Amino acid sequence: MTTLPDPVNLQTIADNLSDAVFMIDKESEIVWLNKQAEEFFNTSFEDARGKKVTELTGVKKMKALINDVFQTKAPLECSYEEASIKIKRKDKRYFFKISINPVFHNREMWGGLVQLSDVTRFHEMEKIKTDFVSIVSHEFRTPLTTIIVGVEMLREGMLGDLTPRGKEVLEAIGSDCERLSRLIDNLMELSRIESGTIYVEAEPTDVPDLVDEAVRPLKVQAEKKGVELITDIPPQIPPVVADFNKSVWVLANLLGNALRYTDAGGSITVRVRQRGKRLFFSVEDTGCGIPKEHQEKIFRKYVQVSGPGRKGAGGVGLGLSIAKDIVMAHGGEIWVDSKMGEGTTFTFTFPVFQGEKSVTLPESE
Ligand SMILES: Nc1ncnc2c1ncn2[C@@H]1O[C@H](COP(=O)(O)OP(=O)(O)OP(=O)(O)O)[C@@H](O)[C@H]1O
Ligand SMILES: [Mg+2]
Repeated sequence: MTTLPDPVNLQTIADNLSDAVFMIDKESEIVWLNKQAEEFFNTSFEDARGKKVTELTGVKKMKALINDVFQTKAPLECSYEEASIKIKRKDKRYFFKISINPVFHNREMWGGLVQLSDVTRFHEMEKIKTDFVSIVSHEFRTPLTTIIVGVEMLREGMLGDLTPRGKEVLEAIGSDCERLSRLIDNLMELSRIESGTIYVEAEPTDVPDLVDEAVRPLKVQAEKKGVELITDIPPQIPPVVADFNKSVWVLANLLGNALRYTDAGGSITVRVRQRGKRLFFSVEDTGCGIPKEHQEKIFRKYVQVSGPGRKGAGGVGLGLSIAKDIVMAHGGEIWVDSKMGEGTTFTFTFPVFQGEKSVTLPESE
């Protein structure tokens, strides 16, 4: 075994880590940092010592993350998005993943160890992927539109009569075209969101109009399936501050899901209620339900629940993650309540329109 050269102490080891590491006390004040942290924050141990962590890093979000760790006395546990921060240094933007661990001494928690790992390269690769998805899905649109028009012409008999078998094949092509078209829409919406260009054009929006626009296209499908579609909107409901197309998109996606997972004889209710300065939109179904352990995960990209009664459901698991981004860009929230075998209710909130001043949406980070 090779012995470590003398003198090697913990500081030497910490200084040779590729991550920036620093230690804070319970007041979130810096008590120690390694060389990487000194270099990155352009400071020295003497200068940094005693400073608040937000003062050193310039990242406000860190305060809440540290508070979480101090309260739970457990390592930071949150999604990748929540744990990543953006720091601008010398005209370049760096992305870091934060890890925070509580530090114990004599079984008492006295502070925390914060580690920042540089993930800028991964972010750049993500960007390339997002751009690629955006270009490819855009390029798919044109030929797909041609196919859809062709199918429509054949369906309407404009190109002559089809045999019953021909009609069946055409129906299958038609419904696959619809799936493909939905997938392309979702991918394009997603790449717009990921590239940070989700643009919410919020304005006072009439609630019955919004609900009707989302419900109307599904009426025939629901009827065919034997599922009742109910809307429950109080007559005096005030307008919301929302981007009309994007909020219709959210509602239509929740309705699409509800219809997909509700069997004949069931019902779907779109309900709108006002509570204070917010409107609560909910889509309630009497479908198969979502198991408890999946309820939080389904808002992540590409997450779908597998299991009996879910065969042939289609889709790729993007709808809810896009819906969440859109709702959050409006300063709202979205969540799910569900009981297996009884049904599912998705609820999201939008701000009530309260005169011209309220059109400004809360800033999203
Ligand atoms: N109302 C619901 N009832 C039961 N399960 C649901 C319901 N809504 C969503 N889910 C589950 O959540 C998963 C994720 O939904 P999401 O809308 O994100 O994706 P998707 O509908 O599968 O595909 P996409 O929306 O991209 O077409 C679904 O695959 C389904 O398993
Ligand atoms: Mg969906």
